[in-house]
Amino acid sequence: MSDRKATLTIDGIDEPLDLAIYDGTLGPSVIDVGKLVSKGVFTYDPGFVSTAACESTITFIDGGKGILLHGGYPIEQLAEKSSYLEVCYLLLHGELPSAQQKAEFESVIRNHTMVNDQVSVFFRGFRRDAHPMAIMCGVVGALSAFYHDATDISDSLHREISAHRLIAKMPTLAAMTYKYTKGQPFMYPRNDLNYAENFLYMMFGNPCEEYKVSPVLSRAMDRIFLLHADHEQNASTSTVRMAGSTGANPFACISAGIAALWGPSHGGANEAVLAMLTEIGDVSRIDEFVARAKDKDDPFRLMGFGHRVYKNFDPRALVMKQTADEVLGELGLKDDPLLAIAQRLEQIALEDEYFIEKKLYPNVDFYSGLILKAIGIPISMFTVIFALGRTVGWISHWNEMISNSYRIARPRQLYIGPVKRDYVELDERE
Ligand code: SDX
Repeated sequence: MSDRKATLTIDGIDEPLDLAIYDGTLGPSVIDVGKLVSKGVFTYDPGFVSTAACESTITFIDGGKGILLHGGYPIEQLAEKSSYLEVCYLLLHGELPSAQQKAEFESVIRNHTMVNDQVSVFFRGFRRDAHPMAIMCGVVGALSAFYHDATDISDSLHREISAHRLIAKMPTLAAMTYKYTKGQPFMYPRNDLNYAENFLYMMFGNPCEEYKVSPVLSRAMDRIFLLHADHEQNASTSTVRMAGSTGANPFACISAGIAALWGPSHGGANEAVLAMLTEIGDVSRIDEFVARAKDKDDPFRLMGFGHRVYKNFDPRALVMKQTADEVLGELGLKDDPLLAIAQRLEQIALEDEYFIEKKLYPNVDFYSGLILKAIGIPISMFTVIFALGRTVGWISHWNEMISNSYRIARPRQLYIGPVKRDYVELDERE
C-alpha cells in the first residue's frame, strides 16, 4: 500500500473523505472505496469499466500497449516457446516448472483424463442436436457429484486435485460432447499421446481404424489452448470468482464460467465471427457489413473486433493471425475464401475512421475460428474449445481467491424503483 490518498468531498457531507490508494507492480493504482458505505453512498460503475474487484498475481494486461503477461512472461514468447500444459503450471503456481516439475505435472494430467463411466450416461439425456455449450454446462457441473473425496475448498491439496482433474478432463468431456452430437461412439483417452494430440484423437478418431494425429494440427491445437488460457478479470473469470466467493465447489464454479463464456460478446464471439464471415460470403460485400457495424440504428457488430481492455491490437490476435497463416499454408488451404474475407475485412476496418476513433482492433476471436475450421472442428464447438483452454485460468483465479482471505461478492445498486406503498386489494385495483 502507498501512503498516497484520494480526498473525496461530497455535497452534504461535512468532512472530506480520505481514501487509501494502493499501487500494484504494474498498471493503474486503485482507490479503496470500501468505507463509502459508512457515509451512505456507493460507487456506481455498471459493467465494472473502472472497478478492480480483487488483487491478483496471475495475469497482467496493458490494453493501451497491447501487452499480455502470464506470471510476467509475454504471451508472444509463451506462444513461441512454451506449451499449454507448461502455461497451465505457470498459471497455477506462478513460476515456470523445472524439468522434473514439468514431467510430474504432465504425468498427473495424463493420468486423470478419464471420467467416471457414469458420466457417459448424462449425455443420453440431451438431444443429439443440443448446442455443445449447453451439454458442457451440464456435464462439467455434474462432475461435483463424483468427487466428494476432494471438495474441501479450505484444503490446498483438495484444491490442487480439483484443478488437475478439471484440466485433465475438459478435453475428454469436450470430445465426448462432439461425439455425442455426431452420433459416434466416445473415444477413451490414450496415455501415449500428449494433451493436444489426445484431444484430436478423441475428437476425430473412431474404433474402426487407426487415427494418425497430424503434428501440424496438434501443434496448432496446443497453441489455441495456450492463447485462451487466461485473461485476468474477464466476464467468465469474474463469474467463477463470484460463484467461488460463496464457497461453491470448483466444478460448479467452472460450470458457471462456461455459461458466462457462451455469450456472443465474450467467448461465443469465435463462433459468431465464422457465421459473420460466411454471411458476408464475398469480399465485395465487406463494405456493406462495415457500414452496418457503424450504423447506430443497426444492432450488427463486427464480431471479433473491439475489446473492453485492449485499445490496441490484442496480442493474442496477432499470434493467432500468424498461426492461421502457418496452419492454412501447411494444409494447403491458403485459398480459403473466408481467410481472404477476414484479411480484407481487417484491413478495411483498421483504415476506417470509425474503428480508429473507437480503437476497435481484432481480438482473440477474430482469427481463431479460421484455425479451428482448418483443424476440422465444427463452428458449434468453437466456444467449447475456448472453455477448454480457459479452464486453467478460471481454476487458477478460483484457487488464488480461496487461498487468500476473501469475502462473499455482493455488489449494491442505485435503486430507482417505486417508493414504499401499501398493498392494494384486488377489487380496488383499476
Ligand atoms: C473476449 O474481457 C476479456 O478479456 C474477454 C476476452 C477474454 O480472453 O476473456 O478477451 C475474450 O470476450 C473478446 C471479445 C469478443 N467479443 C466480440 O468480438 C464481440 C464484438 N465486440 C463487442 O461487442 C465489444 O467490443 C466488446 C463486448 C468486446 C467490448 O464491449 P465494451 O467494452 O462494453 O464496449 P462498448 O460496447 O461500450 O463499445 C464502445 C463503442 C460503442 O459505440 P458508442 O456507443 O460509443 O458509439 O464501440 C462500438 C460500440 O457500438 N463497438 C463496436 C464494436 N465493438 C464496440 N462497433 C462495431 N463493431 C464492434 N465489434
